[in-house]
Amino acid sequence: MSTNQLDKKSEAWSALFSEPMSDLVKRYTASVFFDKRLWQADIEGSLAHAGMLAAQGIITAADLEAIERGMAQIRAEIEDGSFEWKLDLEDVHLNIEARLTQLVGDAGKRLHTGRSRNDQVATDVRLWLRGEIDLIVPLLEELQTALVDVAEQNIDVILPGFTHLQVAQPVSFAHHLLAYVEMFSRDAERFADVRRRTNRLPLGSAALAGTTYPLDRALVARKLGMVDAQGEPQICQNSLDGVSDRDFAIEFTAAASLCMVHISRLSEELILWMSQNFGFVKIADRFTTGSSIMPQKKNPDVPELARGKTGRVVGHLMGLITLMKGQPLAYNKDNQEDKEPLFDTVDTLKDTLRIFVEMVGGQPDAATGAKSGGITVNAQAMEAAAQKGYATATDLADYLVKKGLPFRDAHETVAHAVKAASSHNCDLSELPLTVLQSFNPSIEKDVYEALSLRGSLNARNTLGGTAPAQVRAQIARHRSRLG
Ligand code: ARG
Repeated sequence: MSTNQLDKKSEAWSALFSEPMSDLVKRYTASVFFDKRLWQADIEGSLAHAGMLAAQGIITAADLEAIERGMAQIRAEIEDGSFEWKLDLEDVHLNIEARLTQLVGDAGKRLHTGRSRNDQVATDVRLWLRGEIDLIVPLLEELQTALVDVAEQNIDVILPGFTHLQVAQPVSFAHHLLAYVEMFSRDAERFADVRRRTNRLPLGSAALAGTTYPLDRALVARKLGMVDAQGEPQICQNSLDGVSDRDFAIEFTAAASLCMVHISRLSEELILWMSQNFGFVKIADRFTTGSSIMPQKKNPDVPELARGKTGRVVGHLMGLITLMKGQPLAYNKDNQEDKEPLFDTVDTLKDTLRIFVEMVGGQPDAATGAKSGGITVNAQAMEAAAQKGYATATDLADYLVKKGLPFRDAHETVAHAVKAASSHNCDLSELPLTVLQSFNPSIEKDVYEALSLRGSLNARNTLGGTAPAQVRAQIARHRSRLG
């Protein structure tokens, strides 16, 4: 095959084809316009493969040197935008290989020895995704830190905790935010776990059955950093599986979906809290937009979009898992469809995390590093809302239990007290002692401490509870964990 023949994809593999592809089929089957994004992984994978081929004496040191020189130039061309991506060459792999051959001749043609695009693309996607996970996990840590920062400033701020979106019991706003820190820390754990299974080497599987060349797969794995915590090479152990399964991408998208669901829950709360009926928090104006008709409006567009984009990421999970279903072994072209959902999942998640880091925690000042412009909290509005809805009714029941009543009886007694308070349109803590004693004579003056919001919080002093002492301990744990 002459060097310039590689300009046409149909000529890149065989003289077998008797007619050229139509433009529509070319466009339909090509992936270069989206998979060119894998170029760094493709070059990295090729260099590791070539280095191993030379170490094994399958290609010469001179060939390796030529391949390295050619790849350095290709890298420079892609970076400065002068690389000419050709639809005719279908995908990122054939584009780079064709240019390499143009630049260094026969050495370029030897690169593909013992390799197929099937194990090449599986390797590239894994390398690329590993790099993205390594960017996502720190973003999740930044978001946790931003939430812990806001929590630390609001340990003594009380808002109504809800169940069924009905006022249930008072909680510390810090405690509420730390619930999200737990969720995002599990998300980070999940991504770290997905990374372990992503970081395994398909190269050496070749098209599907392995190869006749004496490849050193462990060497390639080491060169690519596909090793475990002990430095042991991580290699796909079955060639048919190695080229064909995309479960690592599906797992990643599942982890991303859960993370977006957590973002979506937080978004929903911000949206509620920002509404005039709550008035609990404000987010900086730059995360909101006005209305073209209603001059008074400030709409929480960013949290709303994040909630909406969750659907899109969950959709990508459905797309990928359905893509895999029903594929016989081994590689099928269906798998080319793994890329756009995966890329969009990564882009959406990273952008969403970046924007939430700033929206929650604010922006650092260039000189001092001090952050400002994050969530503003209206502690009075929160506390006023916690005063409504008999949030401390359970505390009265617990008080009676301590006086010796069985819990079920205490529960019933308090229901009567709530009924009385609500007919007087007041809180339980506003009922005179004599009235409270009419429900149970064992009630004494200290009941008012139990009925206060702060008393209620302080009383929930078990591990994981909302008492300020517990919240402080959790903040300290998160601080030492997050560094
Ligand atoms: N562009 C293809 C993909 O993304 C590369 C692998 C093609 N292999 C093949 N035998 N057609 O999956």
